[in-house]
Amino acid sequence: MEIENLFAGRHMDMAALEESDAPIIARWFDDPEFVRRFEAVPARPRATAEIAGQILTARDSQDDYLFGFRLRGINALVGYGALDGINWRNRVAWLAVALSSDYWGRGLGREAVRLMLSYAFGELELHRVQLTVFASNGPAISMYEAVGFQREGVYREFLQRDGQRVDMLLMGMLAREWIELAKKGRDCIPSGPDSQ
Ligand SMILES: CC(C)(COP(=O)(O)OP(=O)(O)OC[C@H]1O[C@@H](n2cnc3c(N)ncnc32)[C@H](O)[C@@H]1OP(=O)(O)O)[C@@H](O)C(=O)NCCC(=O)NCCS
Repeated sequence: MEIENLFAGRHMDMAALEESDAPIIARWFDDPEFVRRFEAVPARPRATAEIAGQILTARDSQDDYLFGFRLRGINALVGYGALDGINWRNRVAWLAVALSSDYWGRGLGREAVRLMLSYAFGELELHRVQLTVFASNGPAISMYEAVGFQREGVYREFLQRDGQRVDMLLMGMLAREWIELAKKGRDCIPSGPDSQ
């Protein structure tokens, strides 16, 4: 798979996360809406040192790739994502993404996920990328489907939230599906900062 620029989307660059990014990410976890969409654990603020520790742990791991998404021009960190728990024997990874709530609803989530998929299938040569998402997280499901993920299964009543049980969806994409999307010109392979 040929990719023009692996790390450049239309509006953002996919870059390494630095320890100095930790205070910015820790602030995102102060937003209960953010953390409740992202995680199954009870919402709690995160210390900068905890986030910094996760960045350093991933840096030393062969199976976990963490990325920062920086808005070009101002070079501001607006989100982060992961391809992690990589099972190299079977070439399968988990994907996660989160943006600062200041940047929701502008299509940047799709751009971040497309950059990670290009990397996963084009550079790491994985066969399958999968994720879980709560059924209550409509914006994320809509975004993953727009990128081309398929709903593959349901963990019924996985989450206890506000006195109710909530399903969690399993979604996945295969390398051949990603290549097919690229052939159809669905804009899934980032083509560099100068493109439309
Ligand atoms: C999920 C997430 C990365 C999506 O990124 P995004 O840049 O906002 O995505 P998009 O701009 O492509 O928007 C996705 C859809 O949600 C809608 N949407 C986005 N933000 C919204 C908001 N605050 N309220 C209502 N709808 C919203 C968009 O209109 C779009 O709907 P459409 O596809 O029908 O047009 C982002 O919302 C986020 O970081 N959420 C918190 C963490 C999280 O939930 N991560 C995923 C866990 S599996």
